[in-house]
Amino acid sequence: MDFNLSSEQQMVVNSVKELAENKIKPFAMELEEKGEFNMDAFKDMAKMGLFALPFDEKVNGAKDYLSYILSVEEISKVCGSTGIAYSVQVSLCAGGIDKFGSEEQKEKYLKPLASGEKIGAFCLTEPNAGTDASGVETVAEKRGDKYVLNGKKCFITNGPLADVYLVFAKTDKDAGTRGISAFIVDRESEGLSIGKIENKMGIRSAQVSEIIFEDCEVSAENLVLDEGKGFRIAMAVLDGGRIGVAAQGLGIAEGAFDEVIKYMKERKQFGKPISSFQGLQWIIADMDAKIEQARYLVYKAAMDKQEGKPYSVSAARAKLVATDAAMYVTTNAVQLMGGYGFMKDYPVERMMRDAKITQIYEGTNQVQKMIISGNAFR
Ligand code: CAA
Repeated sequence: MDFNLSSEQQMVVNSVKELAENKIKPFAMELEEKGEFNMDAFKDMAKMGLFALPFDEKVNGAKDYLSYILSVEEISKVCGSTGIAYSVQVSLCAGGIDKFGSEEQKEKYLKPLASGEKIGAFCLTEPNAGTDASGVETVAEKRGDKYVLNGKKCFITNGPLADVYLVFAKTDKDAGTRGISAFIVDRESEGLSIGKIENKMGIRSAQVSEIIFEDCEVSAENLVLDEGKGFRIAMAVLDGGRIGVAAQGLGIAEGAFDEVIKYMKERKQFGKPISSFQGLQWIIADMDAKIEQARYLVYKAAMDKQEGKPYSVSAARAKLVATDAAMYVTTNAVQLMGGYGFMKDYPVERMMRDAKITQIYEGTNQVQKMIISGNAFR
């Protein structure tokens, strides 16, 4: 496997690093405390073309999935909230339309999502449909040339900000996973409203909410593929999303690692820098090895997707290992920094809180184990 970056990819990484350092990092703590989104950074990301990276020339993309994943990683080093907002927009909303949408749907919705002019969200989860995604209760009833949606989605990342929603609803209540269909829904659609804004443990700057559909009319032209294809669309789209979350986890782990190394070189106890104590060095070694493992699996999954190889299992492995690494590294970073690590003067406590959700969303890590072991026994 060759993970040597081309000069174009290195340029993308360098410019995203600069953006992250100057436009995201300085505001990350303040915005997370206020629960506000860094919209200015999102606008800068749009100007840089970051939302189009994995898509083709028709939407001014670079057809470079690895560069996109490297960008999620760089941004997440300083702010997990901006990292997931970016990943949801590109992987789950735009990515779904790119893979399964008609040419008309791509022209109307993918273009503005890829340019960053519009923000996207993915509406699968419901109060009674989390891990069992097939249990969605939102219904879409066909009436003439329209579908009428009724139901409630929850935990929707970008929910309050989005202009475009990729929504999964039942068109046949008795057909199990084959009774679910996917729709592209505009924010302005009558009958669509934003419900409760979630109050979260971490990624507090990301905007997450309920999305409510009350007799919400959607043109039949906005059905993605055919009726009954929605579950498979959701699963396939989530395979890509999981590489994004894995990159987010990797970035959070790397961000915490950099912080703790800097701290340990400066912090003195018993007359010496704490970096000189072997017990602590061994924790650093474990953190380093977990990050490197995660990095390989994340880039491998990204390359599999980029090269058109199957990537469900490599995405699940990457998500499992990278997000567990994020939790391990951030928890130990707090521990190594002692009382200072626990205080909000340093970013590692925020990183530890942000890391937790990466083990949960886009399929808990137990779901990733189901996918990996299912493949092993197939
Ligand atoms: N790609 C394409 N099709 C797939 C697929 C994939 N990766 N995985 C499964 N399918 C297909 C199967 O082939 C099967 O098709 P047929 O009926 O034609 O044979 C169909 O889907 C049903 O598959 P399963 O029987 O395996 O489905 P299941 O009901 O047992 O569910 C599961 C399996 C893995 C647990 C799945 O429900 C799952 O992934 N759950 C987690 C849901 C999830 O990730 N939610 C995240 C919400 S979004 C979010 O978090 C975003 C955010 O805001 C950050």
